[in-house]
Amino acid sequence: MTYNWINPEDYSMDTLLYFDRWVLQYLLSRQPDEKDHTAYQSLVGRALWRYPHVVDFCRNKAPECAAYVDAALALVPHDLDDRAARQAETDFLRYHETFVVYAWPEAMEQVNYIADWDRKWLDELIDLCGMVVLDVGAGTGRLAFAAARDALRVYASEPCDRLREHMRDRIALTGIRNMKVLDGMVTCLPYEDATFDAVLSGHVVGDDYEGELGEMRRVTKPGGWLVICNGDDQFRRKRPDPELTRRGFEAFCHESPSGGIIYNYRLRV
Ligand SMILES: C[S@@+](CC[C@H](N)C(=O)[O-])C[C@H]1O[C@@H](n2cnc3c(N)ncnc32)[C@H](O)[C@@H]1O
Repeated sequence: MTYNWINPEDYSMDTLLYFDRWVLQYLLSRQPDEKDHTAYQSLVGRALWRYPHVVDFCRNKAPECAAYVDAALALVPHDLDDRAARQAETDFLRYHETFVVYAWPEAMEQVNYIADWDRKWLDELIDLCGMVVLDVGAGTGRLAFAAARDALRVYASEPCDRLREHMRDRIALTGIRNMKVLDGMVTCLPYEDATFDAVLSGHVVGDDYEGELGEMRRVTKPGGWLVICNGDDQFRRKRPDPELTRRGFEAFCHESPSGGIIYNYRLRV
């Protein structure tokens, strides 16, 4: 699915130089939704063909991907020219636009789910005054910065280095004193049990509900809150996520200025 978050013509495969190992592992491997694995691997090879320094970087940053990349390059046709290689490059970047923006936080902040969002939707779900809060998969800090206005302390957990640095720059620029930025994957959070009064997330839960929610619940204090506060977009959802309501989450709904029907959720632990 293409969201048109970026114009891929504006980017190059040098974008991969800004990615963490876990992102390279995903991009340089079989795609779960892709039926034709060879076609995808061939795209990878053609897209990387003009970028030996990027190939070198990927080999060293994520050595487990080296064999996949070698096999991808071996699929490149002998008569590939620069134009066809550039086409493959833009196709690859369009295909992975949701990752490309992780390397370019300013572009990510222009995407409607962040740009059109209003903090009132977080306020509707929870009063964070006096709370110690975790934002999981914080991205550019949409929720974490909103939370920092009221909460006692906010920890923004984010596995992309570029996004962590972006949040740290904004903290330094604005002088916010109650927010810290840390690394962390949702299924393996580097915190003791029952640490937080509230654990927030947006667009992070969904690949593995049990693993993700189980870990978020583990680090939440008894009586604390799990809050899923999504951004505003154009998608007109017809009902709340049944995986969340089935697990006891209360759903809140609003119509977005982007045109979408947005559901947000909370659960008392
Ligand atoms: C679509 S963005 C949402 C960013 C932010 N939560 C928001 O709603 O504005 C998803 C974020 O989750 C992070 N992410 C992806 N996989 C993750 C994982 N397994 N654990 C934690 N964060 C993850 C990404 O790096 C990215 O910042």
